[in-house]
Amino acid sequence: MPRRRKAIVAGNWKMHLDAAKARALASAVAAAAPRMPTVDLVLCPPAPYLGEVAGALGLSGGRGASGVALGGQNCHHKESGAFTGEVAPGMLVDVGCRYCILGHSERRALFGETDAMIDAKVQAALAAGLTPIVCVGESLEEREAGRTEAVVTAQLLGSLAGLPAADLPRIVVAYEPVWAIGTGKVATPEQAQEVHALVRGLLASRSSAAVADGIRIQYGGSVKPDNAAELASRPDIDGALVGGASLKADDFLAIAAAFA
Ligand code: PGA
Repeated sequence: MPRRRKAIVAGNWKMHLDAAKARALASAVAAAAPRMPTVDLVLCPPAPYLGEVAGALGLSGGRGASGVALGGQNCHHKESGAFTGEVAPGMLVDVGCRYCILGHSERRALFGETDAMIDAKVQAALAAGLTPIVCVGESLEEREAGRTEAVVTAQLLGSLAGLPAADLPRIVVAYEPVWAIGTGKVATPEQAQEVHALVRGLLASRSSAAVADGIRIQYGGSVKPDNAAELASRPDIDGALVGGASLKADDFLAIAAAFA
């Protein structure tokens, strides 16, 4: 059965690699990408290597011959200003980005990002022409306390609070249970599908069922080549946000192939 929505598989390289390794990894992904025209591939390197990776992907002005897109891992909500250490959404666009991960659980937990901050970033990213990948997900404690639905609902609606319904089709959502990130403990396809269906319902409540039906929802958290196909078989799982496994070209490409 053909996929309902075009799959999107993104690599979140976090704070890993160096310039040479970033270039080599991007080149390897770019070389294989033409074999996967049914999947949108996105690479999100550390900010200092965006230019390197843009070069390796053949990007100029956001579109490259390889078809692989570039994304930031975070951005500020202002266009410019005295914000030492921060990156503006327009700067990401300037170096060839089309996407930006926002509200990753590491940003929420380690850098104090709130739903309100993420909401501001989502709007700023869209205004700059970026597609935000908006992340939500519960902790282990929250899941065990039976609070998954409440937490994901509050995060998603809070992170999109100021977004006009008309802009909803311009985002991607990533469901990433915190307990599955970097732990090797992947959510079962049933657990993931259940939350993806919840997210889609919430998106419908902000717009319409038809709009929500077109929005892509990625799963993230210990996605590997050996569990990707099962996740990909679920109706509301439209791709993956991949951390550890995205640092190896073969693994990342095998995951992408599972969604092709
Ligand atoms: P992981 O990370 O694949 O290493 O679990 C996923 C993420 O944090 O996006």
